[in-house]
Amino acid sequence: STVGKVITCKAAVAWGPKEDLKIETIQVAPPQEHEVRIKILYTALCHTDAYTLGGHDPEGVFPVVLGHEGAGIVESIGNGVTNVAVGDHVIPLYIPQCRECKFCKSPKTNLCQKIRIPQGQGVMPNGTRRFSCNGQELYHFMGCSTFSEYTVVADISVTKVDKNAPLDKICLLGCGVPTGYGAALNTAKVEKGSTCAVWGLGAVGLAVGLGCQAAGASRIIGIDINPLKFETGKKFGFTEFVNPKEQEKPIQQVLVDMTDGGLDYTFECIGNVATMRAALESCHKGWGVSTIVGVAGAGQEISTRPFQLVTGRTWKGTAFGGWKSHDSVPKLVDEYLSKKLLLDEFISHNMNFNKINEAFHILHSGQCIRIVLSL
Ligand code: APR
Ligand code: ZN
Repeated sequence: STVGKVITCKAAVAWGPKEDLKIETIQVAPPQEHEVRIKILYTALCHTDAYTLGGHDPEGVFPVVLGHEGAGIVESIGNGVTNVAVGDHVIPLYIPQCRECKFCKSPKTNLCQKIRIPQGQGVMPNGTRRFSCNGQELYHFMGCSTFSEYTVVADISVTKVDKNAPLDKICLLGCGVPTGYGAALNTAKVEKGSTCAVWGLGAVGLAVGLGCQAAGASRIIGIDINPLKFETGKKFGFTEFVNPKEQEKPIQQVLVDMTDGGLDYTFECIGNVATMRAALESCHKGWGVSTIVGVAGAGQEISTRPFQLVTGRTWKGTAFGGWKSHDSVPKLVDEYLSKKLLLDEFISHNMNFNKINEAFHILHSGQCIRIVLSL
């Protein structure tokens, strides 16, 4: 048994910004108090990993083990861990749920702050690290670090799920799919019969489509500059598509004309401040709600005329779709098992972990929804 021992295994190490990852042999120390060591079996790639690797994250620290959309099996637990046991199937959570902080106690938010500071610094809650490579310590990432055969996370950052669920699919419930699905259901609270529009038909935007469909929306309009996404969108509840590049008028005008004055709900899933503005201004006067889901680059600012808000539009934002992570991720797994929530359809590529650099190139290619790597 490896319990209590240092594990030597393979990981993709980001040695510095804008460099390819390197598959290295690393050492993973045993979990300490309130920590869990997980054997990661599958990880997907997300744009936040690429963003940090690209050197755009002002909080980014190197060398680091990236990755935050994964699934695996508990290898060992530290003292005081009660929520998971050895052998449990689990999903790491980049937004934990401690159930004790002011945020966890409020029904209005999912943004647990218990370990926010050390997590942002790339260290465990007690300030130390569990990864090393050739004697040099490596940083953790988003409290998860799934680009490694073994990782160590805080117990509040890991949740147990049904063993019947395939880990190569439910790894997607670590980030992008819940983010979009929850944006529609929890943050915007889309109502039956309402009209919706979604900017950006990547995994996040497609998942918004599923959420709007689950809520019973009457029209779900997909907006993308890549027409390849429109065929895909049909599987995710979208009823119509608009390519802003093919329009003579600004997109907000096109949509207002198409919908008798604007949409009930809009969603920005690109991370572009110009489309954030367009999404707000496409909302119906008096009640339209626009939700920002995409993450804009550091230092970017949004703008619109305040009259847009004075006349009854609302601008909102969401992280991880507003889901309180422990309460919700196991339920989303159950929704997948009962065929209520699609996941397989998001996976455009399956690849071996060794090909992770190639996978990052594909991620940027426009052909890709989600890539799942097997470790
Ligand atoms: N107008 C319309 N569509 C656009 C535009 C634009 N100006 N720019 C990009 N797009 C489309 C792309 O063609 C692509 O289909 O937006 C989509 C974005 O999808 P992905 O790159 O696959 O991103 P995704 O994983 O869905 O994440 C979207 O959420 O988590 C955040 O950081 C992430 O900000 C990103 C966003
Ligand atoms: Zn909390």
